[in-house]
Amino acid sequence: MAKKRVAVLISGRGSNMTALIEAAKAQDYPAEIALVISNRPAAPGLTRAREAGIATAIVDHAPFGADREAFERALDEELRAHRIDLLCLAGFMRVLTPWFVKRWQGRMLNIHPALLPQFKGLDTHRRALAAGVKEHGATVHFVVAEVDCGPIVAQERVPVLDSDTEQTLAARVLKAEHRIYPQALRALAEGRLSLTSSSEEKNAG
Ligand code: GRF
Repeated sequence: MAKKRVAVLISGRGSNMTALIEAAKAQDYPAEIALVISNRPAAPGLTRAREAGIATAIVDHAPFGADREAFERALDEELRAHRIDLLCLAGFMRVLTPWFVKRWQGRMLNIHPALLPQFKGLDTHRRALAAGVKEHGATVHFVVAEVDCGPIVAQERVPVLDSDTEQTLAARVLKAEHRIYPQALRALAEGRLSLTSSSEEKNAG
């Protein structure tokens, strides 16, 4: 079967993107990373992608101002130009409109640095430490219109140690992210996952 063509959307460092690129080097991996797009021109991940020989594009959100859909139409054009099948959000710091989410429904994953539904949103490690949880982790989920709410595809737990700082905890979670994202993308690319309306309802909120 032909490999699925995947685009990774980033805004920054791109370590999850790199994990996906590395995994996709395996011959039996069912997806190839065909494109990396950043909404931030200075994202360090762009350099890493170019060094890995991956096509890159910058779709800067700034010129579009408050017109989110215009930004997303530009994004969508790039994706279509590269005949992309599946999308992986990896540290992509833009909230997507229902229009875009619907367009890529069931074909778009996100990675979140917490055990969803716990700690949606930003600063997850700081909040996990403040809450005194004993376990924290990472989640890959389908993207739905509500942020960090889509059906869960993969999770990995990590312990929270008494000695942890935000940085040490983030580093432990990041290693888990790098393990589960390639696994989740594999499952999606092999057609072993699907987003049904009932799973959306069940997992909303
Ligand atoms: C990761 O922790 C990811 O879960 C979150 O943003 C961070 C991005 O890191 N959404 P990187 O750019 O993949 O290194």
